[in-house]
Amino acid sequence: MQKYYIKTFGCQMNVHDSEKIAGMLKSLEYEETNKKEQADIIVFNTCCIRDGVEQKIFGNIGDLKRLKKQNPNLIIAICGCLSQQNGRAEVIKQKFPFVSIVLGTHNLNELKNYIVKFKQTHKRIFDVWEKEKAIDENVEMFRTSNYNAWVNIMYGCNNFCTYCIVPYVRGRERSRKMEDVYSEVESLVNNGYKYITLLGQNVNSYGNDINDGKTTFANLLKLLTTIKGDFRIKFMTSHPKDLNDDVINVIATEPKICNTIHLPVQSGSTKILKLMNRNYSREQYLNLIKKIKQAIPDVYLSTDIIVGFPNETEEDFLYTYTLIKEVNYGGVFAFMYSKRTGTVAEKMENQIDEKIKNERVNKILKLSKSLIKQQNKEMCGKTFEGIIEKELENNKYLAVLHSGKNVIVESENSLPILSFQNIKITNNEASQLFGVINN
Ligand code: SAH
Ligand code: SF4
Ligand code: F3S
Repeated sequence: MQKYYIKTFGCQMNVHDSEKIAGMLKSLEYEETNKKEQADIIVFNTCCIRDGVEQKIFGNIGDLKRLKKQNPNLIIAICGCLSQQNGRAEVIKQKFPFVSIVLGTHNLNELKNYIVKFKQTHKRIFDVWEKEKAIDENVEMFRTSNYNAWVNIMYGCNNFCTYCIVPYVRGRERSRKMEDVYSEVESLVNNGYKYITLLGQNVNSYGNDINDGKTTFANLLKLLTTIKGDFRIKFMTSHPKDLNDDVINVIATEPKICNTIHLPVQSGSTKILKLMNRNYSREQYLNLIKKIKQAIPDVYLSTDIIVGFPNETEEDFLYTYTLIKEVNYGGVFAFMYSKRTGTVAEKMENQIDEKIKNERVNKILKLSKSLIKQQNKEMCGKTFEGIIEKELENNKYLAVLHSGKNVIVESENSLPILSFQNIKITNNEASQLFGVINN
């Protein structure tokens, strides 16, 4: 059997798209290999969110020349956000003559046809569609986990945050129908999946494009919790401007929905938020957090931060720093601002020095580490729900809490693998949590 190798760059959306790529390759009778040297076809599913990511991918594509020399029949396909980006397909075409196929995000499902065609004609295929097309519900996929499933609820983004390339490479918001999401989730649950993670660039605007008064994120969540079975729902990403009371209430009241919210703030300075076109102020964000914490006292909050956005002064940065401290996030993903071609921020004056960005990002990483250390200490004595992932040795199991934290659980009774359990944290040593069952 011929073998395929897929390398994924970027976000969860891409990780899930790669499951669709794998589905297409399986249906063409390829089997997976994790060694690219053994592959007959290599697919890079790419990202262009920051320049660093882009440069790394170009480097990785360059490295494939060696493999193509060893195996002239090797097929190399490049898809995803980088190839969708204006002009990049042409760059790949010129710079890397050994690449066989390039396609964008809007025609991902065509990959299968392109491979068949390439095998017949041996002519290089470069096809990037400018516009998004209607949602295709008949996609094959090959899921990488047997208990963790990603489910797209919408595609694209309408927000045009001034730094961000995503709306340019993923098109406008398109929501799947509630009944289509429902049947996918129901079948996943029936097949033993335990975590369903709903995916969208801004899940809180789910249904806005359908605009029938019924298709909303809160209603979707409610509907999915009516599915019978032992499973939990997660979702990402939430946009602070659209996360409303209805959604907060559903999370607070439905035990099947995990109390974890990824709520990127990006900056703690109202001035910078305005320049970013985020549509909320520092005060509005903090009020929202207050509301969430009141409704969901054990909520686990995480965020994304951009430092060094144009015009960010030391004072603006301090606003971000103090906001992170005040919210006391469980997870902080901090990035240095990276100029993206075609975005509004690209043209802004007062771009910030790389050295300053670097200092600021390090300060945030340090702060985040210290917050997490303290949070882990405070977890001792408290009980959290998690899933038993595997047995480590006699009477010891690895459990993963909904927040993603690992806990080593000691239990005299044998614990079913992939069962949800309430775990009381007893100890926290060198950032490893220990616990016992407390059902
Ligand atoms: N839709 C999500 C995630 C988008 S991309 C959201 O709205 O939050 C993930 C993260 O990458 C963003 O949250 C942002 O923090 C970061 N990011 C996006 N564009 C960037 C840029 N030009 N430079 C640095 N970080 C960026
Ligand atoms: Fe980018 Fe903003 Fe859309 Fe997120 S909401 S994908 S940061 S434009
Ligand atoms: Fe995701 Fe990167 Fe595209 S973050 S949406 S893969 S630009």
